[in-house]
Amino acid sequence: MVIKKLRLNNFRNYEELEIEFSDGVNILFGDNAQGKTNILEGVFLAATTKSLRGSKDRDMIRFGQEEAHISAVTERAGMTHKIDMHLKKGRAKGLAVDGIPLRRSAELLGLLHTVSFSPEDLSMMNNGPEERRRFYDLELCQLDKIYCSNLADYGKALTQRNDLLKQIADNPSLKETIEVWDEQLVKFGTYLIRARKRFTEQLIPIVSEKHGSITDGAEQLKLVYEPNCTEEDFRQTLKRNLERDLILHYTSNGPHRDDLSLFINDNNVKLFGSQGQKRTTALSLKLAEIELIRGAIRETPVLLLDDVLSELDRNRQSRLLSEMEDVQTIVTCTGMEEFVACRPEGNTIYRVGGNQVNRI
Ligand SMILES: Nc1ncnc2c1ncn2[C@@H]1O[C@H](COP(=O)(O)OP(=O)(O)O)[C@@H](O)[C@H]1O
Ligand SMILES: [Mg+2]
Repeated sequence: MVIKKLRLNNFRNYEELEIEFSDGVNILFGDNAQGKTNILEGVFLAATTKSLRGSKDRDMIRFGQEEAHISAVTERAGMTHKIDMHLKKGRAKGLAVDGIPLRRSAELLGLLHTVSFSPEDLSMMNNGPEERRRFYDLELCQLDKIYCSNLADYGKALTQRNDLLKQIADNPSLKETIEVWDEQLVKFGTYLIRARKRFTEQLIPIVSEKHGSITDGAEQLKLVYEPNCTEEDFRQTLKRNLERDLILHYTSNGPHRDDLSLFINDNNVKLFGSQGQKRTTALSLKLAEIELIRGAIRETPVLLLDDVLSELDRNRQSRLLSEMEDVQTIVTCTGMEEFVACRPEGNTIYRVGGNQVNRI
């Protein structure tokens, strides 16, 4: 699938912008703070209804304006579609496809699939487990709507159980009702554990192949899913640790405490990886994600690369570029020379500056 055209009205720094993308590699080139990432954000928004940086709708509306419009023309299996989005201050966004209003944003999924990669994705390798759980959740939500609803229900049940743990301190007779929430957690949580396990198993051979190719066979990347509880022992663990949870006022076990470990040649990337290795690891994961989505929906997603190429050495850069061959890519950069040196042909280049975008 590809995005053919993007129109932004009163979105971020753009009063009015229309940009046509080629099916190959599109390079957005310009100084800092000129609005390159804002364009990627517009594409991502059209695909998912969510901001790439987790911003609220009101913050994406151009300063001093009340509303913003985003419209995207996409092509999938020879069919063209138009996505229209209307951001308003303090109200839900309006959404239409081919002129027909949509009631739920989930109906949009599938028209435009994106895989985005920005320097923030690196934090997955450096920070605590939340980022790695977020990786699971973002990927799996795109691939499996049931995962999405189970994740939301699990979150609600967890909040309820934690609230109840606090109330029991004042009212011990409530203790018997905890089992209701245990059952809910087990029901939704088991789905999450199973899906994460299966997803990791699917990802392992693809990631290892991608990483091997980027590093010319020098490095072997392995993923290990580390569930906090297994499907089998989740219920028992909740029971066993109830007294502790009552003291903590917090549910200390479950998939909300899961982790994912990454190993290069058997060394934990988080502990022993260099910056370059972390960057390559994150890239390998993204390339594997493209492959997985391709397998699942029989279409190639659009790749959004935000300022990630500059830190790769030339060899890794050109390997990445060769992987991008048949994937529509939109990439931002400030220094373009080395990039174009690796891949002189087939790029469409845009200069971004002064709240304008000009094709070169
Ligand atoms: N809601 C908004 N209205 C107007 N301008 C905005 C808004 N949000 C961000 N900007 C402007 O966008 C610019 C940053 O754009 P960005 O795409 O992040 O730049 P870069 O080219 O470095 O990727 C800044 O100049 C900022 O002031
Ligand atoms: Mg940027």
